[in-house]
Amino acid sequence: MKEYSIVTKSRDETHELGEKLGRSAQPGMVFLMNGDLGAGKTTLTQGIGRGLGVKKQITSPTFTIMKIYHGRLTLYHIDAYRMEGIDQDLGFDEYLNDDGLTVIEWSQFMPALIPDEYLSVTITLLDEDQRQFDMNAAGERYERLLEELK
Ligand SMILES: Nc1ncnc2c1ncn2[C@@H]1O[C@H](COP(=O)(O)OP(=O)(O)O)[C@@H](O)[C@H]1O
Ligand SMILES: [Mg+2]
Repeated sequence: MKEYSIVTKSRDETHELGEKLGRSAQPGMVFLMNGDLGAGKTTLTQGIGRGLGVKKQITSPTFTIMKIYHGRLTLYHIDAYRMEGIDQDLGFDEYLNDDGLTVIEWSQFMPALIPDEYLSVTITLLDEDQRQFDMNAAGERYERLLEELK
């Protein structure tokens, strides 16, 4: 399955969606997240952390650019919001070959980090509590991941 869309009606439902992704994630995977401020990128990542068994509270990495959490896989949580227009190699790409899971919020602002294969998640704010998640799988591993979400 290359594409999958789902609407969640609460923060809890988004956590559950993320949890499924976290449980199915495999070493070296990269999830790209885009969508307006407040869409739910960090909320989805919190669920992913839960699915990976991360105990620590996951918070927005906006001011630190990257935070690292330890679970079944190491979670590299990047927020590229402040990287818009900055075209420099900060060495983050080293993590993309790692055995961990890399989640990049605002990946559009860090095109150099986008690998050939990835799961992209575009989040649209429908109303106060409803969010639409449009997922796109590039690569077989990610297509299988979407199958598991159904
Ligand atoms: N269905 C939903 N899914 C995710 N977040 C939701 C939902 N409904 C309301 N929210 C709220 O929207 C906000 C999303 O914030 P956040 O995840 O930090 O967004 P982003 O990282 O995309 O800027 C949170 O305050 C959350 O409680
Ligand atoms: Mg965020």
